[in-house]
Amino acid sequence: MSENETRPVMKGLILSGGKGTRLRPITHTGAKQLVPIANRPILAYVVDNLANAGITEVGMIISPETGEEIKETMGDGSEWGVKITYIPQTEPKGLAHAVVVARDFLGDSPFVMYLGDNLIGCRIDKFVDTFNTSGSDAVILLKPVDNPSSFGIAEVAEDGTIVRLVEKPKEPKSNLALVGVYIFSTRIHKAIEEIEPSPRGELEITDAIQRLVTVGAPVQSQVLDTWWLDTGKKDDLLAANTVVLDEWLKRDIKGSVDEESEVTGRVSIAEGAVVKNSTLRGPIVIGKGSVIKDSFVGPYTSIGDGSKVKKSIIEHSVILAGAEIDHVDRLEDSLIGRDARVGKCHNKHKALRLMVGDDSVVEV
Ligand code: DAU
Repeated sequence: MSENETRPVMKGLILSGGKGTRLRPITHTGAKQLVPIANRPILAYVVDNLANAGITEVGMIISPETGEEIKETMGDGSEWGVKITYIPQTEPKGLAHAVVVARDFLGDSPFVMYLGDNLIGCRIDKFVDTFNTSGSDAVILLKPVDNPSSFGIAEVAEDGTIVRLVEKPKEPKSNLALVGVYIFSTRIHKAIEEIEPSPRGELEITDAIQRLVTVGAPVQSQVLDTWWLDTGKKDDLLAANTVVLDEWLKRDIKGSVDEESEVTGRVSIAEGAVVKNSTLRGPIVIGKGSVIKDSFVGPYTSIGDGSKVKKSIIEHSVILAGAEIDHVDRLEDSLIGRDARVGKCHNKHKALRLMVGDDSVVEV
């Protein structure tokens, strides 16, 4: 048997547990990992990235508060050609604690640990390759940030070796944050056994990686050269929506568009959506069963399933499922919650910028 056949296959571990704090104004869901970016939950992009790297066995950490909703949305993983095993974590005791909870699932396999609220602008295969060829016990990704006290931070020497890793330092010595994608060998399990909970009471993965560094285990770092969005932190849905539409959307028209309408650029119109007498300028994504009538929809707009836009002008906005925009001239940089209604808004002088929560009604 060749060496390759005996080596345990790499697995994926997605962390989508946590406190389930509700996001405002998107209060419908407690799971921040399910917030839609360009009409897809963040977790869908995470699973895409693992599947693209050839990983087929995926463990998903879920919490009692939001686990059921995550299961319903993500299913068994067959949509991605992977098998998802759900692993309940009864309390959010930290990222390293989640690895302890997943110990049986992980077995003797190396694994990619992916935080379920992180989006990165590239595939992860090259990092998996680095892990496989370098013989490291951990590969971590770093990215400069403006607010280092909110992240795990790495101090790196000029030759690239890691000097120290600190979780959310009060006085950061560097601005290089740990991105929420890590690759580990089985050696991480022993390192986790050897750490204590942090002052915030969590078993920190940053401390476990620091433990690897302390005992001299090889840890490789790479600075990410694409964008990275920690969506759980910034809660910056509009920015994430813009980046994802800009980088990844393809023209794909499945719904119906009548002859009076004009559709230019990268526009995705899902099955059952109807566009009548309207102008659409991509990048735009329009969800299943939506109706766009007598309207202009401009770039960087996502319109969720079953929404209705009538006699309105919208751009650079996120309209969540079931919302209705009627006679609004014009809406920009706005986030409209699920099943919300915005109607009869005319302002000749400037565009409306709204953040409207789920089920709300706005009329001006
Ligand atoms: O996003 C990058 C940052 O993620 C890193 O720079 C930090 O070093 C790392 O500790 C982490 O910090 P956060 O404070 O952002 O982690 P958060 O509590 O938001 O959890 C990240 C994900 O893991 C989120 O999807 C929830 C999930 N989670 C979290 C905890 C504490 C679990 O599944 N179980 C848990 O016990």
